Amino acid sequence: MKTILDFAAFKKKNQKITMLTCYDYTFAKLLNQSDVDTLLVGDSVSQVIHGYPTTLHATVAMMELHTAAVAKGAPNKFIISDMPFLSTRKGIKHAVEVAGTLMKAGAQAVKIEGAKGHEKLIQHLVESGIPVMGHLGLTPQSIHQLGGPKIQGRDDASAENILNDALALEKAGCFSLVLECIPTELSRKVTYALQIPTIGIGASAHTSGQVLVLQDMLGLNADFKPKFLKKYSNAADTTIAAINSYVAEVRTQKFPQAQHSYE
Ligand code: KIV
Repeated sequence: MKTILDFAAFKKKNQKITMLTCYDYTFAKLLNQSDVDTLLVGDSVSQVIHGYPTTLHATVAMMELHTAAVAKGAPNKFIISDMPFLSTRKGIKHAVEVAGTLMKAGAQAVKIEGAKGHEKLIQHLVESGIPVMGHLGLTPQSIHQLGGPKIQGRDDASAENILNDALALEKAGCFSLVLECIPTELSRKVTYALQIPTIGIGASAHTSGQVLVLQDMLGLNADFKPKFLKKYSNAADTTIAAINSYVAEVRTQKFPQAQHSYE
């Protein structure tokens, strides 16, 4: 299993870090057999698995349950679990309890969106033995404050803000940082300015690694086609075709046959 020391070593060696989201035991078992470096139990579970419109609906109980399932399926992977919406905003005591719950469920680190107001908490978690990954740029938990899923850091002021936040997160003790949907040049600048690795999604190739939502990169979500996404398979079509073959064979009595039946 990788550790936060490997994250640091990857950055030093200029070796790209690979991360994918995972929410369930079945995919965790497959990912455990893959070459991917690390898994994120993202709060995108709220949308991808539970069908909510945003990540705001992810709860501590939801994150705990999915983290435990992933940990059981992928014992050889470094697992990072998202601190859900507002769980970092109810005081340090509450946040420590939430982080502890996720770690006990099987995570090796937690991810926190945004920097402002989180510096002390991150320092406290790190001093308490909990590795923290930051998340800047398009932070989905602030989707309404940001006015929608828009590219962040396009103007000078907001780019400088993201760079300063990244430096603050590094100073607070984050071992790594997700950069979501920011322009190429800003991504390069932030990655260059930091000692810790950056993991990009919609943040160009100028990061220390990349993350995608598993279901999106497998092509399970046919309608989701943002510019940053590359689909590595067409799993939606393959899955529907397999289901329809099953339905047709049941209807025409081609399935089950003798080899599927008990004497
Ligand atoms: O929840 C999530 O899937 C994430 C990734 C987009 C980085 O935070």
